[in-house]
Amino acid sequence: MEIDGRVAVVVGGASGMARATAQDLAAAGAKIAIFDLPISEGEKVAAGIGKGTLFVPLDITDDAAVEAAIDRVMDEFGAIHIGINVAGGGAARRTVSRDGPHPMDEFRRVVELNLVATFNLVRLQADRMTRNEPVDGERGVIINTSSVAAFEGQIGQVAYASAKSGIIGLTFTAARDLGSLGIRVNAIAPSLFDTGLTKLAPPEMKQALVDGAAFPRRMGRPEEFARLVRAIVETPMLNGGTIRLDAAQRFAPK
Ligand SMILES: NC(=O)c1ccc[n+]([C@@H]2O[C@H](COP(=O)([O-])OP(=O)(O)OC[C@H]3O[C@@H](n4cnc5c(N)ncnc54)[C@H](O)[C@@H]3O)[C@@H](O)[C@H]2O)c1
Repeated sequence: MEIDGRVAVVVGGASGMARATAQDLAAAGAKIAIFDLPISEGEKVAAGIGKGTLFVPLDITDDAAVEAAIDRVMDEFGAIHIGINVAGGGAARRTVSRDGPHPMDEFRRVVELNLVATFNLVRLQADRMTRNEPVDGERGVIINTSSVAAFEGQIGQVAYASAKSGIIGLTFTAARDLGSLGIRVNAIAPSLFDTGLTKLAPPEMKQALVDGAAFPRRMGRPEEFARLVRAIVETPMLNGGTIRLDAAQRFAPK
């Protein structure tokens, strides 16, 4: 799909990889709607991208607020062609720790934030995309955010890894569901990236987390995520897959 003149919803766009993506898609000529928390810098980021960029404050785990936000984009821009679902996050808790078994409410919260909220976004974005006139058979492109934790979760990532693996299954199956409608669905699985999420981690921990990489052995840069988003949007044969953006990182079992 050509990016110029299209409407992109960028979820989590106030920070990190999604912010870089919103800026990159805008530079390529897309109209941007950023969805992010009310306490985020969404307003500032939208103003920085330029006039006409929409910021919709919401919590993506609030289903009704997400539907209202999607409707707002339809009212303002008349269509949605590109959906970039990036907002998410984890919790650090082992299956069993000194405090006892992993609290179920915490597990559910992480699955709600990363998996259930992503599905809500996908179904609503895809529904509005069905109204687009197809161009070369294509009506829309959706990109979700998984993680290398989906393949190799670290100790304490059981809830996060479960949710991010779910995104892989969701993505392939949604691509099949939506294929006849001309809508593609892909996911990106980043390794450690230099974003708001990882800013506060101690340097030695960050180094340990990139040590399993082949090359380059550094944190990913948000603009590298944005570049992959652009390639996926522009490449029709990419569909249903989860692309590892991880410098061939694999961890040896300890
Ligand atoms: N940074 C990494 O190393 C890394 C690695 C693998 C996967 N990821 C995934 O990438 C995605 C983006 O992370 P990032 O590193 O760019 O982080 P980030 O913290 O810089 O950005 C995430 C954005 O999502 C927003 N957000 C969080 N919860 C939200 C909610 N409930 N409703 C609306 N907005 C919400 C935040 O306000 C923030 O602006 C996440 O899904 C994360 O799990 C990150």
